[in-house]
Amino acid sequence: MDEQTSIHRRKLLEFFSASPLLAPSAARALAGIAAFGTTEAVAQSYDVLRAAPVMNGDLIASPAQALNVFDFEPVAKKELPPAHYGYLASGVDADKTLKANRDDFDKIHVRARRLIDVRKIDTTVKIFGETWASPIALAPVSSVGAFHPEAEAAAARACKVKGHQMILSTVGSTSIEDVIKERGAPVWYMLYPTDDWAVTEKLVKRAEAAGAPAIVLTVDRQGGRNTETLFRERRSDTRTCTDCHTPGFKNEVSRKPMFDDIDVSKVTNLYGTGMTWDYVKRLRGIVKGKLVLKGIMTQEDAKIALTHGVDALIVSNHGGRAEESLQSTIGALPEVVGAVNGKIPVLIDGGFRRGTDVLKALALGATAVCVGRPYVWGLAAFGQPGVEMVLTLMQREFETIMRQVGATKLSEITSKSVRIV
Ligand SMILES: Cc1cc2nc3c(=O)[nH]c(=O)nc-3n(C[C@H](O)[C@H](O)[C@H](O)COP(=O)(O)O)c2cc1C
Repeated sequence: MDEQTSIHRRKLLEFFSASPLLAPSAARALAGIAAFGTTEAVAQSYDVLRAAPVMNGDLIASPAQALNVFDFEPVAKKELPPAHYGYLASGVDADKTLKANRDDFDKIHVRARRLIDVRKIDTTVKIFGETWASPIALAPVSSVGAFHPEAEAAAARACKVKGHQMILSTVGSTSIEDVIKERGAPVWYMLYPTDDWAVTEKLVKRAEAAGAPAIVLTVDRQGGRNTETLFRERRSDTRTCTDCHTPGFKNEVSRKPMFDDIDVSKVTNLYGTGMTWDYVKRLRGIVKGKLVLKGIMTQEDAKIALTHGVDALIVSNHGGRAEESLQSTIGALPEVVGAVNGKIPVLIDGGFRRGTDVLKALALGATAVCVGRPYVWGLAAFGQPGVEMVLTLMQREFETIMRQVGATKLSEITSKSVRIV
């Protein structure tokens, strides 16, 4: 019995023995269940004992007070300079796609099943021969150092403690070697290729040499974007942005460790603007491990990707930060899954905040999901413990809803677990 279980059990017995509402025999019976039950069974039965500590103010003062991942966002907002918070929160144009990513989960209902023994839950998933303890992973986020001084290192440690995979951005604030060291296991590497092939090759080689089993090419940042929420928040930031952000590509990436020792003098843009499927073919030629495309939103592109030797797709609209299409990722998932027809894994991100969201995506055929902003809220608010709690909450909610659909393992989450309304 671990320490947590024993405290849990002790509190439970104290609670029941002190309860005037229970006849002694009933209290004994319930205490017997507690003494006998697994952690899972106890957690299911007596949720009242898990309630978070009382709060005195509007904002949570510690990760333990959080009831859901949304509780972290206002704390992150308070901690961050307005421009950095604006960068995190922003979608594009009127943020309608950002909103659609959330709203469309409400168009999918969960079909609860009864009388199935779901005390033991297995959430492991195998991707590229590696077993993940959970289908919830961290999405690549740029410049994480703008949100907390420990940046991706803290996130990686949280992933290690809680058993989650993560994807590191090319423009992260921490090198891939350090992130892998902190996580104690390889992470995936998300590639912004730049428009200089020599730079692309160097980034890929470095990530693979560090141990990244997958290179994730992000394909949804073609051209500029109108991040109005960021621009609005920046107006109230009294700091001088150019103190840190010197204009020009060379200066921008000079603070990003993945570009250390790389000559970027010929680069004119980070995103590889102008990339076509020929580019994917060329990249396939140098990526030794798995090649993943992030940002696929249609069946047409999913089908073309299959003919280019791509190993997995991530359905993504960059968290509503790329195009103002009004198309949510959860809404686009079925057509991509249909086109792929089980040939390669399909991951998804965009608006995942609840365990029920994760279940819905898996029911519609996703292999795993990634979360972006929620982990950054946790990080900005409380550092590593904040990220850990965000992951704990999402995983706990996910296991809870798995039980309600009668699924003891991920393969038992099927299209019959949901109803599209
Ligand atoms: C602040 C911020 C920075 C991001 N940076 C990157 C990036 O460098 N590369 C990338 O592929 N996606 C990036 N994304 C998109 C995320 O990987 C992911 O697609 C998105 O955050 C998922 O939506 P969610 O935030 O609603 O969970 C970024 C997102 C945010 C919020």
